[in-house]
Amino acid sequence: MAKPIIKIRDLTVGYDFPLLSEINLEINPGEIVAIVGISGLGKTTLLRTIAGVIPKLSGQIFGDIRRRGGIGYIPQRLGLVRHASVYHNVELGARCGVKLSTESGNIFNWSKRKSLVIRDCVDQVGLSEKIDEPIRRLSGGQQRRVATARAIAQKPQLILADEFLSELDKENADSIISLMRKYVSDTQCAMLLVEHHIVRAEQIADRIIDLSGFDSKLTSEA
Ligand SMILES: Nc1ncnc2c1ncn2[C@@H]1O[C@H](COP(=O)(O)OP(=O)(O)OP(=O)(O)O)[C@@H](O)[C@H]1O
Ligand SMILES: [Mg+2]
Repeated sequence: MAKPIIKIRDLTVGYDFPLLSEINLEINPGEIVAIVGISGLGKTTLLRTIAGVIPKLSGQIFGDIRRRGGIGYIPQRLGLVRHASVYHNVELGARCGVKLSTESGNIFNWSKRKSLVIRDCVDQVGLSEKIDEPIRRLSGGQQRRVATARAIAQKPQLILADEFLSELDKENADSIISLMRKYVSDTQCAMLLVEHHIVRAEQIADRIIDLSGFDSKLTSEA
């Protein structure tokens, strides 16, 4: 069996107080796992800890994902550069990934390739017509799609997505779900997402972990 992309053992996350403890989780290549649970449980805190934004309180996270660009993070508050264009925000993802810079021979075709990758990612989320617009002039759902394009432009091994489908109508949510399922399957990366909407979680994920009934303990094996 393939080696998991990420393996979490007895992880405790929180701030100056623990929020979720004894977290055990493995995600295999090509697999999508969704976390559901009521507000304030610590779901965002868990993703931020795995992304390396905040330190873990205890436990271990294994996997070759901490290399440059290994984790594509779509935060709940998106973290887009509001005055910059869609193109430039997606470019930040492309620059963060390593593959693009090592695949091409010289700086001239590197910049051309990079531009093609960025335009392709923006096209995949249906925002080609807005590519030169600054983020502040986009709707909430359009901004979520930019953050999705930024994550895939990075070609990460693990995608962490925090409620990335909220503010999207059914048609757009369905299309982003198909895009992500295809992306994860084609690249054999892994995805861990937090999703409030249980129907959407079932639609996108191979496996769902409901934190509400876990009394702050999360254990799931593939
Ligand atoms: N920077 C911080 N410092 C201290 N406590 C925090 C910080 N950020 C969040 N918290 C607290 O941690 C708890 C969990 O927050 P978190 O954002 O992880 O929840 P969540 O499960 O993602 O909720 P939601 O579904 O509403 O997004 C909350 O009680 C919150 O007040
Ligand atoms: Mg949250």
